Amino acid sequence: MNAQTQPSFPPSEDTVSRAHIDARGYADMYAASISDPDGFWAEHGKRVDWIKPFSKVKNTSFEPGNIDIQWFEDGTLNVSANCIDRHLETRGDQTAIIWEPDDPSTQDAKHITYRELHSSVCKMANVLEELGIRKGDRVVIYLPMIPEAAYAMLACARIGAIHSIVFAGFSPDALGARVNGCDAKLVITADYAPRGGRETPLKSNTDAALLHCKDSVKCLVVKRTGGQTTWTDRDYDYGEMMLEASDYCAPAEMSAEDPLFILYTSGSTGQPKGVVHTSGGYLVYAAMTHEYVFDYHDGDVFWCTADVGWVTGHSYIVYGPLANGATTIMFEGVPTYPDAGRFWEVCAKHKVNQFYTAPTAIRALMGAGNDWVEKHDLSNLRLLGSVGEPINPEAWTWYNDVVGKGNCPIVDTFWQTETGGHMLTPLPGATTLKPGAAQQPFFGVQPVVLDPQSGVEIDGNGIEGVLCMRDSWPGQMRTVWGDHERFEKTYFSDYKGYYFSGDGCRRDEDGDYWITGRVDDVINVSGHRMGTAEVESALVAHAKVAEAAVVGYPHDVKGQGIYAYVTLMGSEAPSDELRKELEVWVRTEIGPIAKPDLIQWAPGLPKTRSGKIMRRILRKIAEDDFGSLGDTSTLADPSVVDDLIDNRMNRR
Ligand code: PRX
Repeated sequence: MNAQTQPSFPPSEDTVSRAHIDARGYADMYAASISDPDGFWAEHGKRVDWIKPFSKVKNTSFEPGNIDIQWFEDGTLNVSANCIDRHLETRGDQTAIIWEPDDPSTQDAKHITYRELHSSVCKMANVLEELGIRKGDRVVIYLPMIPEAAYAMLACARIGAIHSIVFAGFSPDALGARVNGCDAKLVITADYAPRGGRETPLKSNTDAALLHCKDSVKCLVVKRTGGQTTWTDRDYDYGEMMLEASDYCAPAEMSAEDPLFILYTSGSTGQPKGVVHTSGGYLVYAAMTHEYVFDYHDGDVFWCTADVGWVTGHSYIVYGPLANGATTIMFEGVPTYPDAGRFWEVCAKHKVNQFYTAPTAIRALMGAGNDWVEKHDLSNLRLLGSVGEPINPEAWTWYNDVVGKGNCPIVDTFWQTETGGHMLTPLPGATTLKPGAAQQPFFGVQPVVLDPQSGVEIDGNGIEGVLCMRDSWPGQMRTVWGDHERFEKTYFSDYKGYYFSGDGCRRDEDGDYWITGRVDDVINVSGHRMGTAEVESALVAHAKVAEAAVVGYPHDVKGQGIYAYVTLMGSEAPSDELRKELEVWVRTEIGPIAKPDLIQWAPGLPKTRSGKIMRRILRKIAEDDFGSLGDTSTLADPSVVDDLIDNRMNRR
């Protein structure tokens, strides 16, 4: 569809009049952010409270061999004081966090005020200190979506410890690798994680993980359900320690460039990497994007449905909203439990103003039918957000018409774990929306589209290539934990002088950006980012598997599904039982989110004469698009392709 025939939705007068930023404001501010980044960010850096104000603003280099990113480098601050203490005088009794439990029939929602948040975070910070955690130490958080997850993050920030959250859906092996990866001193977990009416045994997962970690690693256990667990010498009872802990803990003075957190994310190689975000720039960027992109105003109730195990939860459940003194919802459950109306029931119950979720959830709920939406009062909704993967126009239209009743602008926010906050996004009062487009850069962001082969910038509109950033922004990751070389290699070596996103992108005739999906071996399953190499390593770790190749294929609800081609050891016969066994195996090696949707037995994989697997061909077969396989003459054995086509799996 070209720009002329695309449907587009200009902001309503009402939206414009309420919005922080209109079209003119965006143009002026964006121009200022590019022509004078130091001046622009010196001004916007003031949105957080500094203990010692910064005198330097931007000091960044994308130069090969010298990748160095620092913002506000001589300023000092404390992130937890910015998210809590500074609000106490004006909004101590305002709700900071609304916690909504998994099962609304057995438990009520909790409203936690800023004052209560202060007390709980201080106590937890004191508990951490008592357990020997000091500035710079790493703490792994493996918790359900309970308020203690936010307390733990903020308590780490308070004393200058670095948190690394591991999504509660990850397996013991994945958890253990992350504990070891950052040499954590402590794991904070819970007995069980209720989700969708089921319970994940987090404590026993942690016990299994810690078998492969140093004996000195301690474990702090929150009792979420009170269910039975085993207890070891390394375990400490959170509830008991909190009873004893003082409710005041002075916030540590941290440098703007001290790490705030590590978050492991998947790339195109087997090992997930520890993305490092620091304190000052990250907080400024998370808070500013939260306010402007969601058009957040004082008194609004903001709901981001992500899990704190992902970056979206870090920036838009905890740090951005709380830095802005917002009321933020933490939801423990899933969109379809107890029924497919849960999201809308929660929106109605808490009078949600801004609602932010992923296309996969929108598609699943669209499939459940409009009745689930229509029986709830969504009249407080003012804005809808989407994140994690491209949103297809059908889902966009349903979100707009049925959920937003045509009155709520949709912000389709493109960003990444690495970027800390939104990169390309509409602004509700400024942008004429196009379903499926991420549209325009946020302030300070300089997107460029490069020719993938030559690496040369493609000028003009109506073009397509790979998406890079020409310069730094304050929320950018600073390094890969313990491996700065990998940071440079992953993001700055394919296209010298640029940050490479890993995504393909189109700039349409109007200059709006459309993300076309990853161009590397990363797939996006239900908004969860996964390296195909990770799933492959899990599969080949099974004794009966000789070789495996994993690709994504289009999936109606998940966006992409996981398609695995598996070559068995010579003595093994394929069977449905073995298929099941491999599915369970991958679940245990990585977690349920990595379970292959389809496994095809492959007597051989298409390889070049030098032994490289031709993934392009495997992708085409998985997509049922084998009419256009391209040149297969360079394959060592072209006949394997016919076998793979004949035995391809039915995607329905
Ligand atoms: O491919 C892009 C896709 O998700 C990737 C980043 O994944 P992750 O680091 O897990 O962060 C997800 C949440 C910020 C990107 O490289 N992606 C994210 N948002 C969008 C998107 N693709 C299209 N449109 C989006 N709005």
